[in-house]
Amino acid sequence: MKPVNIGIIGLGTVGCGVVNVLQRNAEEISRRAGRRILVTHGVVRDLGRLRACQTDAFSMTTDPNEVTDHPDVDIVVELIGGLEISREVVCRSLANGKHVVTANKALIAEHGNEIFALARDQGLTVAFEAAVAGGISIIKVLREGLAGNRINRVAGIINGTSNYILTDMLENDVDFPESLKEAQRLGYAESDPTFDVEGTDAAHKLAILASIAYGIPLKFDHVYIEGITNITSEDIAYATELGYRVKHLGLAIRRKDGIELRTHPCLLRNEELLASVNGVMNAIQIEGDAVGPTLHYGAGAGSEPTASAVVADIVDVVRALTTDPNNRVPHLAFQPQSLSDLPILNIEQIETPFYLRLDAFDQPGVLADITRILGFQSISIEAILQKGTSSQGCTVPIVIITHDTVEKAMNEAIQEIEALDCVRGAVHRIRLEMLRSHSAD
Ligand code: NAP
Ligand code: HSE
Repeated sequence: MKPVNIGIIGLGTVGCGVVNVLQRNAEEISRRAGRRILVTHGVVRDLGRLRACQTDAFSMTTDPNEVTDHPDVDIVVELIGGLEISREVVCRSLANGKHVVTANKALIAEHGNEIFALARDQGLTVAFEAAVAGGISIIKVLREGLAGNRINRVAGIINGTSNYILTDMLENDVDFPESLKEAQRLGYAESDPTFDVEGTDAAHKLAILASIAYGIPLKFDHVYIEGITNITSEDIAYATELGYRVKHLGLAIRRKDGIELRTHPCLLRNEELLASVNGVMNAIQIEGDAVGPTLHYGAGAGSEPTASAVVADIVDVVRALTTDPNNRVPHLAFQPQSLSDLPILNIEQIETPFYLRLDAFDQPGVLADITRILGFQSISIEAILQKGTSSQGCTVPIVIITHDTVEKAMNEAIQEIEALDCVRGAVHRIRLEMLRSHSAD
């Protein structure tokens, strides 16, 4: 049987990983796919740059259209990232009758609804396993392995760069900028690293996971987003003292009246499995009504772990081309006409415990003022910690852990606490996640 021809647009960290894996494991991959898979074209910006893969076995160009429009290319693999050119590449490939594989979560989260509609009209596949959690096959797990379940919660460490930085800050007492530089050097961070540390990258991935878990269209603009830039070594040290780890989580939780969709730093009890996921590793805990809690762990970024997912998608497309192309799994797991309009809950409606840290003057009545404000908002305190004593005119840190509190009440309490004369500066807050067994009913 004739080989399937692949054009790879983008030969950077992931693109070169794909070439290397396809070349190294060619024989096993073709036995699995049922056909030989040949990279026939590669596209880059700079033809003179030294690459981490061999490119002399296929033709190289700087013009993506030479691949999207080439009659001999069967599958276009988009690995340039960003939104504008990648969208053009994907839409043009589909319009030209080519299947598409991409690792681009920004593109899928922000333009997926349009792209999937185009793919359906054309009877083509758009595969995007590598877009979420790198090498972990989490999309396949949700779409296929857990298809019998009503999903109640998805909770994940889905940004490797943030997890790498938080781990480094805890274990090696390293500053944020130094850690970020190393994550960039290792190829984990996005070309714009603010996407990683401000939470946007995790929000893209969460939007995709939520759609597949709950059968709703992609709703990236409804995700509540907070990154790790406000987390200090001080917070990490207090959390450790209280028996917690600080982790950046993506959370999609089914509630009676809709879906919580939020990504932000969280305190997790040390005993939680997610609390011990360190470095660039990702892990996603999914709770289904039938299966209960499941945990999926692996490398969330990096050249070959991500290539592993891209190549698996290529194999899926090749199998569909070779066997029954009409019997594909829907992009968002649910049939497009059966997507639901479950609302996404506003962050102010959401209830979690909180960690609060503030600096206050060490004088009589300070704690009473703070607890009065919390009490007035019906916020109950689980633990309180005041560190050291101050010299005259100086402040001391106070750390408080609350029980479950509605975000709106916490916002009002924080505003009042910050207005107290005895409190200096902003109140630092981190939400806590208990990840206890959960059902929306
Ligand atoms: P990268 O290392 O920056 O590579 C991007 C590649 O695209 C480079 O080869 C670049 O060419 C090429 N390129 C960019 N703009 C182009 C244009 N206009 N025309 C032609 N070629 C162009 O990026 P990456 O880390 O491999 O990421 C690729 C995609 O995978 C992104 O969507 C990213 O979010 C996703 N992803 C990455 C990881 C990871 O661990 N890195 C993990 C999961 C998903 P030059 O080399 O000549 O500059
Ligand atoms: N920048 C991303 C991360 C790459 O750090 O997780 C994988 O999507």
